[in-house]
Amino acid sequence: MQLRCLSLHIISLLIISTLVAISSASSICEFSFTQQNKLYTYSLASSSDTFPHGVVSEDGYYKVSSNGTVVWFQLCDGMIFNHDPPICFDCLDCGGPSRCGMGCSALMSNTILGGYPVCTTIGRTQSITANLIDKESPGMGVLVEMWHQGPAMNCSFSVSVICDSKKFQGPKTLIKTGTCDFATQITHPAGCANVLAAKNNGWGWFSTLLIILLCLFGIYLIAGAAYRFFHLGIRGLDIIPNLEFWASLPHRLQNSFSSLVRRFRGPSQNYRSSYSPVDF
Ligand SMILES: *[C@@H]1O[C@H](CO)[C@@H](O)[C@H](O)[C@H]1NC(C)=O
Ligand SMILES: *[C@@H]1O[C@H](CO)[C@@H](O)[C@H](O)[C@H]1NC(C)=O
Repeated sequence: MQLRCLSLHIISLLIISTLVAISSASSICEFSFTQQNKLYTYSLASSSDTFPHGVVSEDGYYKVSSNGTVVWFQLCDGMIFNHDPPICFDCLDCGGPSRCGMGCSALMSNTILGGYPVCTTIGRTQSITANLIDKESPGMGVLVEMWHQGPAMNCSFSVSVICDSKKFQGPKTLIKTGTCDFATQITHPAGCANVLAAKNNGWGWFSTLLIILLCLFGIYLIAGAAYRFFHLGIRGLDIIPNLEFWASLPHRLQNSFSSLVRRFRGPSQNYRSSYSPVDF
């Protein structure tokens, strides 16, 4: 009884969590897909024991630089600076000079214009998308991409969140992939999928068995018929192997079904009169 209650409880929990998952499916940095009977679910921003904010940086931003170019960014959210904000000559599209960095998700700065740091917005929160790095190997991690269309050029920024269930590693190097396109990578447990066996697994196994049995039966019929046709020289309907057995099968099935019904009903006074006696 207790076991039954427990299983009912587990089932209701599963239903509730499924509903929650469906209702929050539109949120950025969450997605799932099915491959080879497995359901892969990614939820980059949901909390875990070691990372209460998931992949979202607790500092309010990540920072990475290479060759004099600096990029500040946040994953799955906008940036917040409580300390060390970007110093930019102009901070157009990302909060303006007083709130620089607080109006977008990725800001790039390089020093041109006689030593002044000039910033360019390269990603907005509304443009963030998350996808698999490699569709063939869903365990590799998630690619978070964002973009911004500025007055002069189109910019984009992409972060590979490499799955490692034990290790966190912040961004190390910044790679320039186009005129205003940049990429970096981090290692984070949030890049790993939550893998569930898809629900139709049991039926898949059963239908495979059924197909194998049908194939074996087909091979038996064809091989038997060929043997009887070519080797024994039998013609006509008789080339079907064990024809008598197959012809009597419906009758046999009916008989076993009746005896089964009788056994379940238990002995009754008049079963002998309602069923003809079985003779094997
Ligand atoms: C930016 O991209 C959009 C479409 O993605 C295009 O229409 C526009 O011309 C591009 N702007 C520049 C400056 O390249
Ligand atoms: C920095 O230099 C390396 C090697 O030349 C290059 O691969 C990389 O894209 C550069 N990064 C930036 C942000 O310019």
